[in-house]
Amino acid sequence: MTRQTVLVLGASRGLGFALTEEWLGRGWHVIATARGRSDALDRLSERHPGKIDVETVDINDGDGVRALHDRLRDRRLDMLFINAGIARAIEASPATASEGDFLDMMLTNAFSPIRAAEVLRDLVPEGGTIAVMTSELGSIANANGGWQLYASSKAALNMLMKGYAAKQARDGHTLLLVAPGWVRTDMGGSDASLSIEESIPLVVDMIDANRGKPGLRYVDRFDTTLPW
Ligand SMILES: NC(=O)c1ccc[n+]([C@@H]2O[C@H](COP(=O)([O-])OP(=O)(O)OC[C@H]3O[C@@H](n4cnc5c(N)ncnc54)[C@H](OP(=O)(O)O)[C@@H]3O)[C@@H](O)[C@H]2O)c1
Repeated sequence: MTRQTVLVLGASRGLGFALTEEWLGRGWHVIATARGRSDALDRLSERHPGKIDVETVDINDGDGVRALHDRLRDRRLDMLFINAGIARAIEASPATASEGDFLDMMLTNAFSPIRAAEVLRDLVPEGGTIAVMTSELGSIANANGGWQLYASSKAALNMLMKGYAAKQARDGHTLLLVAPGWVRTDMGGSDASLSIEESIPLVVDMIDANRGKPGLRYVDRFDTTLPW
């Protein structure tokens, strides 16, 4: 059987790196991106020769994403996973946050991931999957004020993905907004309820279970649909 290929955008550390390791462990070929040099990805390449390609891109750089598309023009992706994201001013509200922190999150967490999906979508044939890392906190229905500004950027991401799904319905892609749970990474912090090992294998199982089912779902690691 042909080896499946996944492109993970934002794979230098945390959940993106763990996704890369998980798919390598399951026999996939992974194209993993980082903003700059990543020692962790270099070490992973040494452990899995020929099974991982490391590319450099900042998802906030539109020309850089288009250049990545051109470099991968001849590749066929079974899966595109857009993981990159940031959290700033997590305790703040609009009255106390810097405008820059909010705008940075809106750009990195909402606008840039969907631009990347639009730019890269033709590398994914019909029947393939485009998944974007959102958060349980992106649910407007379940909002409780926690991480208010970050949560708003993930709600904006969900909205942009809804619009993307409506406009690109003919692609025949499985589209997933993935909520991984609250996980101990640099972003999640040490108080988070889950280890990476308690989240990422379930996330990959869930994505696997949804392959070949076209349309958009906002879904957690247990394959439960979340309220918008
Ligand atoms: N941890 C959680 O509890 C949790 C819960 C729900 C959702 N999420 C989401 O899961 C994703 C990963 O989170 P994490 O916990 O692994 O965070 P993390 O440890 O802070 O890692 C963030 C990753 O995103 C990359 N990144 C940030 N800005 C980027 C940009 N402009 N271009 C390319 N890559 C960029 C980082 O690259 P650098 O190394 O270059 O900075 C890093 O690889 C994010 O979208 C986050 O919002 C996390």
